[in-house]
Amino acid sequence: MPPTYHAAAKALHWLTALAVFGLLGIGLWMTGLPIGLQKLQVYNWHKWVGLVVLALTAARLLWRWWHPPPPLPDVVTRWERALAPIGHWGLLFLLLAMPVSGWLMSSAAGVSVSWFGVVPLPNPVSPDPALFEALRSLHFVLSRCLILVVALHIAAVLHHDVLRSDGIFRRMWPLGRN
Ligand code: HEM
Repeated sequence: MPPTYHAAAKALHWLTALAVFGLLGIGLWMTGLPIGLQKLQVYNWHKWVGLVVLALTAARLLWRWWHPPPPLPDVVTRWERALAPIGHWGLLFLLLAMPVSGWLMSSAAGVSVSWFGVVPLPNPVSPDPALFEALRSLHFVLSRCLILVVALHIAAVLHHDVLRSDGIFRRMWPLGRN
């Protein structure tokens, strides 16, 4: 049987996927909410879970450094071998850039983040309306890039699993062996 990802890498992958789907859905919905307590609470949860993604991605990069992913099987074509790292590193970059831009945006708006209302985080930048607008636009553009790259990632999974049945998806499937 071909090697699969380690259980820790799978756990980090699926927890991140769950959080990112939630964040994208809630992010797209929350901006249209009327100003009030509900909006404030939803924004807080968005920020807290977004920072969980930052921690998960940092943990993932460390894990990947110590435990490189299993080699791709021979069935993977040359162009797929070339595209896979671009897609994966693009995703990892966005999973860092999204929460960092959000954190900086809040800080530039003069709103400090207290993680889950318990851990007060530092403000990396001073309040600055122009910087806030720039970071808000950046967070928006990055979110659209993330949606595109996630869609391509899922399309690649379907291509491997449904069209080719080459076992690539099983490497990351959470219920498999290590
Ligand atoms: C992977 C992590 C994250 C994802 C995928 C994400 C995604 C999104 C999305 C899709 C939107 C809606 C953009 C729009 O259509 O206008 C949004 C808005 C927002 N995000 Fe995030 N976000 C993440 C992390 C964070 C973090 C860590 C913070 C702050 C600490 C944050 C703060 C905000 C704020 C304040 C808005 C509302 C901006 C506005 O009112 O226009 N986000 N986010």
